[in-house]
Amino acid sequence: MEDIKDILPTIRMLQGAVELIDQTLLPGEYRVLRIETVDLLCEAIAKLRIRGAPALGVAGAYGLLLAVEEAWPQENGYYFDMEGVTVEKFPDVDVTAVREVLDAAGKQIVSTRPTAVNLSWAVGRMKDVYAQDFPGTNKMLERLHKEAIAIYEEDVEMCMAIGRHGAELLKDGDNVMTHCNTGGLATSGFGTALGVVFAAVGAGKKIHVYADETRPLLQGARLNAWECEQRGIPVSVLCDGAVASIMSRGMVSCVIVGADRIASNGDTANKIGTLNLAIVARHYGVPFYIAAPSSTIDRSIPDGDAIPIEERAEEEVKQFKGVTTVPTGARAVNPAFDVTTRDLIAGFITEEGVVQPPFLPE
Ligand code: MRU
Repeated sequence: MEDIKDILPTIRMLQGAVELIDQTLLPGEYRVLRIETVDLLCEAIAKLRIRGAPALGVAGAYGLLLAVEEAWPQENGYYFDMEGVTVEKFPDVDVTAVREVLDAAGKQIVSTRPTAVNLSWAVGRMKDVYAQDFPGTNKMLERLHKEAIAIYEEDVEMCMAIGRHGAELLKDGDNVMTHCNTGGLATSGFGTALGVVFAAVGAGKKIHVYADETRPLLQGARLNAWECEQRGIPVSVLCDGAVASIMSRGMVSCVIVGADRIASNGDTANKIGTLNLAIVARHYGVPFYIAAPSSTIDRSIPDGDAIPIEERAEEEVKQFKGVTTVPTGARAVNPAFDVTTRDLIAGFITEEGVVQPPFLPE
């Protein structure tokens, strides 16, 4: 792992609770929420207080530890923390009863956001652990804790590697366009597409970021710009509708975005508006890359048609900061993601390097 100072405390398991930065409040307010129930964790995921595919994976894993804390609370104590696990005081409960609680929590957590595969991937990885035979419940809980921390730590390492590989694609003086938030806030703390920029800047290159606003929830304007500012990286926010104009003037060296789910053939779901960007980039001959860890690749589906697309509330489009901006009779459509077809993508920056599909079952 590289320097820990590069890691935002996006999500942590601390003293039996999940602590996370409430991303809905940024950039105006930096607040860390302490979440002690699965219901509240699901609320935080559904409201995008925690968001971004890799960070959602970690939230799913920690959510299962939280379910155990909630079902068998310890007075003035806890079982799970980033630093370790203390299960000596866990009551005499049968493994099957714990599995039932974990199954229910897993289903609830996975149902919150259908597109980002990392959520079901991480919960599935935890399930593969708790489905095994154990000599006792304590041993099972110790293994579950280990798995959740591994999911977190592996994500940090994968993002650092993505950064290193992607940085080689960037030249000093490049202008990188990106969409939605793909930095530390969207991952265990470093980032994917924005992590590539961080790594390039760390290697001494001067990079300027064009951050698409990313309507309707403004992850680009609010969060990418905030992360760039925190690191002293020059950033210009643009309306989503300005993409073609900016690219047509030759102002963009390359586009790098993240992903929520990549199908075997390379078709990629990412934040709504990504497809526009890819089509415009193709039109103007600007290379368009996806940066994502292997946990975002869904090798079980052949192509983008099989990716479930989350539809969100109309109000997100019809209102701005709580003020209604469209006539009361008008409807809105609000798909949260779109699918960019493989032919529009120059390469996939993963922890393995810059690779090409197909992504076949391992
Ligand atoms: O709805 P969001 O904010 O969770 O959408 C996030 C994205 O689309 C990101 O680009 C993607 O998860 C990759 S994050 C490294």
